[in-house]
Amino acid sequence: MNKFFHCLCAASAIAASLFISEPAAGAAKDSRAEMDTFIGNLMADMTIDEKIGQLNLCGAGDIDTGPVAQSNIASRLKRGEVGAVLNLMGADRIARLQKYAVENGPHHIPLIFGLDIIHGYRTIFPIPLGIAATWNLPAVEQSAAIAATEAGHDGLSWTFSPMVDICRDPRWGRQAECNGEDPWLSSEIAKAMVRGYQGDGSFDDDGRILACVKHFALYGASEAGRDYNTVDMSRLQMYNEYLPPYRAAVEAGVGSVMSSFNTVEGIPASGNRWLLTDLLRGEWGFGGFTVSDAGSIHEMRAHGMGDMYDVAVLALKAGLNMDLGSEAYTTQLRRALDEGRVSEADIDLACRRILEAKWKLGLFKDPYKFCDAKKAEKLIYSPEHRRTAREIATQSMVLLKNEGNLLPLQKKGKIALIGPILNSREEILGPWSWCADSTLYTPIIDVFRKRIGDKAELLYARGAEYIDDDPRQIGSYLFERGHRIQFHPASEESYAEALKAANEADVVVAFLGEHSLASGESSSRTSLTLPENQRVLLRRLIATGKPVVLVNFSGRAVVLDEESRTVPAILQAWMPGSEAGDALFDVLFGEVNPSGKLPVTFPRNVGQLPLSYNALPTGRPASDDNFHKYTTVCYTDSPNSPLYPFGYGLSYTTFSYSPVRLSGDTMDADGSLMATVTVTNTGKREGIETVQLYLRDPVASISRPVKQLKGFQRINLKAGESRDVTFNITPEMLKFYNSSLEYVAEPGQFIVMTGPDSNSLSSATFTLRP
Ligand code: BGC
Repeated sequence: MNKFFHCLCAASAIAASLFISEPAAGAAKDSRAEMDTFIGNLMADMTIDEKIGQLNLCGAGDIDTGPVAQSNIASRLKRGEVGAVLNLMGADRIARLQKYAVENGPHHIPLIFGLDIIHGYRTIFPIPLGIAATWNLPAVEQSAAIAATEAGHDGLSWTFSPMVDICRDPRWGRQAECNGEDPWLSSEIAKAMVRGYQGDGSFDDDGRILACVKHFALYGASEAGRDYNTVDMSRLQMYNEYLPPYRAAVEAGVGSVMSSFNTVEGIPASGNRWLLTDLLRGEWGFGGFTVSDAGSIHEMRAHGMGDMYDVAVLALKAGLNMDLGSEAYTTQLRRALDEGRVSEADIDLACRRILEAKWKLGLFKDPYKFCDAKKAEKLIYSPEHRRTAREIATQSMVLLKNEGNLLPLQKKGKIALIGPILNSREEILGPWSWCADSTLYTPIIDVFRKRIGDKAELLYARGAEYIDDDPRQIGSYLFERGHRIQFHPASEESYAEALKAANEADVVVAFLGEHSLASGESSSRTSLTLPENQRVLLRRLIATGKPVVLVNFSGRAVVLDEESRTVPAILQAWMPGSEAGDALFDVLFGEVNPSGKLPVTFPRNVGQLPLSYNALPTGRPASDDNFHKYTTVCYTDSPNSPLYPFGYGLSYTTFSYSPVRLSGDTMDADGSLMATVTVTNTGKREGIETVQLYLRDPVASISRPVKQLKGFQRINLKAGESRDVTFNITPEMLKFYNSSLEYVAEPGQFIVMTGPDSNSLSSATFTLRP
């Protein structure tokens, strides 16, 4: 039987079993009433155990993303104990399991297949923090759309992305997965990602999948940057700074929300009714379904919320619809119903949300809608997708320093390329790239050799290692997930080999930094400098007297204090993804002018953390960054200022900014105002600049941040070209949550700031009239 014939049969079988007429074409276009009738009829026929089964998301075993109970899926499908499946890959394999579910399950209900498609499926984009560094929202959307179309033809209908946790502490390894420290930028990215994954939300288009915003909520504020740790935060800070990106995703129509591991006001997110019901559904109007993070229901036992029975009840009552990996619902809810701790209506509500998602995805009409192995093969890692990934990778790179215009490199003479990442197909990818097929990708060194041809001689040496000779430096995480990495300590021989290459070369490029899997989940660090063996190597390379460029790979903001003083040129490359080689060649040799801007503050040292540009003022401000006793600049061993501020990034050309000009000095409550700045390309080549707008409300009913990003424009200027960049400031942009949690703009003075980063701004003021 061919696939399409089978689909029709399966769909008719489902419809027939429910005694309803087959849905009209375009399931998602069908009216709400039609969906309600369909699901109402279906649920009327389902047993309580089957309904509980729909709430269960269980692992199928291709990938291990954490301590999730694996299951004997076939027999469970037959008993109707599974609503969705996690971590199975491949259109044919998924279609087989789907077939089993729709043919053998008690009511032939199709499964949702989910997986963490975080920064690409097989075409791997830079890590999300790198994508954020592009400040290019159409590109962000495109990266999600490409991930969706590759995965969405290869069987998958659901991704656990976007991750929009605000993170101001790069000790937390999951900074790699987020959009940085800023609520507004992260909100814009959240919307773009949801659009990219879900399209217009009808799922009529081929290759759109369900998105899941995570981790709701506040996970990025884990104390001390330690994963899974406590969060305790005022509602004011939540509403003004940490919640906006989740809300933006909800307003963009995200279909699902994943709860976080941490507590929110003392109650774990997965059992927090205020969070999952009052706020998410009551205040924000979320209409999709909620899912726990992996095992986060049963983990509530360790949080002190009772035994498995208690936490299952707590979660369901809180509004958590689907259990990822705890088997708390499947094992406890029946008894809880019998004993009156939960009602049938509680179970029905959760089940309905999940069935609605299946309906909206079009799975009742065609359970195999996402399985098209032939098309997947054509789409996956296609030249077009690779081109986009390469462009995005070039745009993600941030030029931190370029003394004497050392970069771009000339394609001539002898160039020493040194570093452990150069010869690898995997270490370019970054964490959360489970679906990658590293056999497809080309190591950086091979790309460089091919592209440089005979124009220059490349000398290559590994030089150093990712970690020092200390076994505690590799988290057990790397071992648990099948990535058994054997690190050898850096040796005098490897230094010698690198120094020999450096001594022979005209210029040295050191590709150093973190291992691809040293950031991500369960990968916190207390030291953020380069590993000591890499620093030793770098010092020795510098001592050769040859010009040295540092290309830094990291899944987070790191400490480059020493290097910022000793190395003339630094390029922050994040984890660039599958097209790393070409993207790096493009940027280092000047075929593409770097344009990335930091979405996170780079600290001078770990002691400054947490650190972000948008802090509240203190009562003891200081006029400069030098130590002043009894002022806020009171570290006796460090300034307060960052090494590289939020929004910062250089180019191979230079830009000058005029002072900001306002179209007036007052604004009516229903009016608006223009802020204009003239930006000139004062250098010798064309370049892209991201012009940033910040606002401050200096006198308000609550203390407000010293500045907040409220807009940006990414413009391209030819050498010598000038352009007026205008931002329209509206009262909406002046609003914040006051201490009664009302969203208001308070009349009075406002400061408008524009410039190339959060630290180099010109300002003007205006007054908002009552
Ligand atoms: C992570 C989530 C992820 C889930 C499923 C968890 O450990 O926190 O981000 O979506 O696993 O793989």
